[in-house]
Amino acid sequence: MAIRDLLRMGDSRLLQVAEKVAAFDTPELHALVADLIDTMRANDGVGLAAPQIGVNLQVVVFGVERNPRYPDAEAVPFTVLANPVLTVMSEEIEEGWEGCLSLPGLRGKVPRHTRLRYSGFDQYGHPFSREVCGFHARVAQHETDHLWGILYPRRIRDLRNFGFTDVLFPERRDGPE
Ligand code: NI
Repeated sequence: MAIRDLLRMGDSRLLQVAEKVAAFDTPELHALVADLIDTMRANDGVGLAAPQIGVNLQVVVFGVERNPRYPDAEAVPFTVLANPVLTVMSEEIEEGWEGCLSLPGLRGKVPRHTRLRYSGFDQYGHPFSREVCGFHARVAQHETDHLWGILYPRRIRDLRNFGFTDVLFPERRDGPE
């Protein structure tokens, strides 16, 4: 389909609460999902939310294959998730580094719940639910935050843990956002 322009932090459209998808399995929704996937892959992202391309709908895509260059990044199955609901399964919180295609070149250490269930719908309107942990749970929280108008810097507890990727991690300049 098309690689779309990414909105960057400072754009007020990234601060809106997105609207629920009302109609599934439509040409418009399939085109949106295709654009999200194309745009995510073209930018080596591990996830992308519709508001990041200027579409105010509750749709996210994410997924990453195991990469031998980043052995600490667990594989996450490719997922299209609309109208998500997150249920925390553990009060345990873990800090971990995140990036975002709307904040190119930056990383921050963000606290996230380690275990949760997400449920929602795929682009055909089929409901599904998964219980996930670790990096998968982190990605799900980061992406769904976009739907509530939250960018990860708002979650950082100590802003000393926020900076430019190539300064923080000179050995892995080409890491995924
Ligand atoms: Ni993001």
